[in-house]
Amino acid sequence: MATPAELARLRTDLSEDQTEHLQRLLGSWSLLADLAFSDLLLVAPVSSAPAGTQPQLVVLGQIRPNNRSTLISQDLVGQTMSEERWDLAAEALHTGRLIEGTIELVEFDEEVLVWNVPVRFEDEVVAVLLRVQGSIRGSASLYERTYLDVFERFCIMISESTFPFADEEVAAEETPRVGDGAIVVDEKGCVEFTTPNAVNALHRMGVFSPPDGSQFDELGVDAALVAVALSSGRPVIEEIERRPDVAVLAHCVPMLAGGTVTGALILLRDVTDLRRLDRLVLSKDAAIREVHHRVKNNLQTISALLRIQSRRTGAGDGRQALLEAERRIRSIAIVHEILSREPGDQVPFAEIVSSLVQMAEDSVVVSHPIEITVHGDLGDTTADIATPLAVALAEILQNAVEHGFVGENPAQEVGHVVLTLGNDRDKLWANISDNGCGLPDGFDIATTTSLGLSIVRDLVITQLHGAITMESGGTPQGRGTKVSLTIPLIHHL
Ligand SMILES: Nc1ncnc2c1ncn2[C@@H]1O[C@H](COP(=O)(O)OP(=O)(O)O)[C@@H](O)[C@H]1O
Ligand SMILES: [Mg+2]
Repeated sequence: MATPAELARLRTDLSEDQTEHLQRLLGSWSLLADLAFSDLLLVAPVSSAPAGTQPQLVVLGQIRPNNRSTLISQDLVGQTMSEERWDLAAEALHTGRLIEGTIELVEFDEEVLVWNVPVRFEDEVVAVLLRVQGSIRGSASLYERTYLDVFERFCIMISESTFPFADEEVAAEETPRVGDGAIVVDEKGCVEFTTPNAVNALHRMGVFSPPDGSQFDELGVDAALVAVALSSGRPVIEEIERRPDVAVLAHCVPMLAGGTVTGALILLRDVTDLRRLDRLVLSKDAAIREVHHRVKNNLQTISALLRIQSRRTGAGDGRQALLEAERRIRSIAIVHEILSREPGDQVPFAEIVSSLVQMAEDSVVVSHPIEITVHGDLGDTTADIATPLAVALAEILQNAVEHGFVGENPAQEVGHVVLTLGNDRDKLWANISDNGCGLPDGFDIATTTSLGLSIVRDLVITQLHGAITMESGGTPQGRGTKVSLTIPLIHHL
């Protein structure tokens, strides 16, 4: 379905500024629907019709009240109607006056009562706001009369181009609604009317003096928002905090007539529970980070113990095995270390890579200087990919520095290991190539039984559902080894 902006662009001659004004109106009109207890429609003239055809109006937006049942069950957005049929809307559009009357709605048998409010932007009437009211009820209660009175004042502002407010922020999800609690003040900030929910919100803030008749800013709310809104003629949103942990969001909308501020509507919403949830989410995040931190500490302890043990074991296979186990545990600790610093469960893999490279460089034998370079990046990865992938890359890098450059090196040639990483949205890939001696004859990654590569194979194929290839001749000189990994991302969504 087309958005109001798309409809305006496709069907009308409205300029960008005019469209933006209407969009701002649509962004804040749920307030109006509630104040009017009515369905609202926004219509604009369709681009000049071909000669001989009727001028048309198109519905750009439709909203239903939250405090009444709707009168219009169909979705009218995008529908057009001739100006002849919606003559009152057309009259409002052309005269710039608010027109009351009855109209026949599409597929609606009964005639309904409608206010046609001209929507002015700068000097031009660009659209009409329709308040579809249905039948008039009997005597309205005080609060209904107050709401309707406020609605009328907003209608005047709409026709005078002072509502919606220029460059007001788009209403957020938590912006207070009329039903949350409303207070009406006069131009001096004197409280004229308070809804029961607003009284509750004031009580939560520790204000027990009867609000009606007193200055809002002297009630003890301790917020200057009303004074600011009244003096600037601009809406103000402020979150008022009160001990013990009470938070009330206050939205003060000034009302203007003929360019002067005549009062304001203050909407109050108790957001204490929302804020408590926010804090809970934050503390859950902190708890997860703390756990990663502790896991990392424990892994570091284990790796230190293995290192000590290896030093006490005579040179040979036993010591080698202990050192390898120590290294593997350290590569897992790296991931937890980074997760303990990151909010959320995503890890910037580049940080892991630099630690892994550091680890491989530390184990380089001095007679064979080796340079490890990294190209590209995997972006952010989740912990369930990052951990196995870090261990696999650590093994492969270790193999390159350990097996690629064996034997004599009289010329002190520098060995090169290049790690290239990429993220294609649906898969991650990593290539590790070295310009060393190449793989032993008859080597096959699929059948090798040595521990290091068996671990890599298991991690890549079974845990990450990916693929691995290893072949000699990764460099132009024909020497060297090239390892390629691809990890699909769909399995990990
Ligand atoms: N980059 C490489 N260059 C040369 N040979 C390699 C390379 N990577 C692996 N190999 C060979 O594959 C063998 C198996 O590796 P791996 O399973 O990690 O066991 P280990 O490293 O304990 O020998 C190594 O012994 C080595 O011969
Ligand atoms: Mg190895």
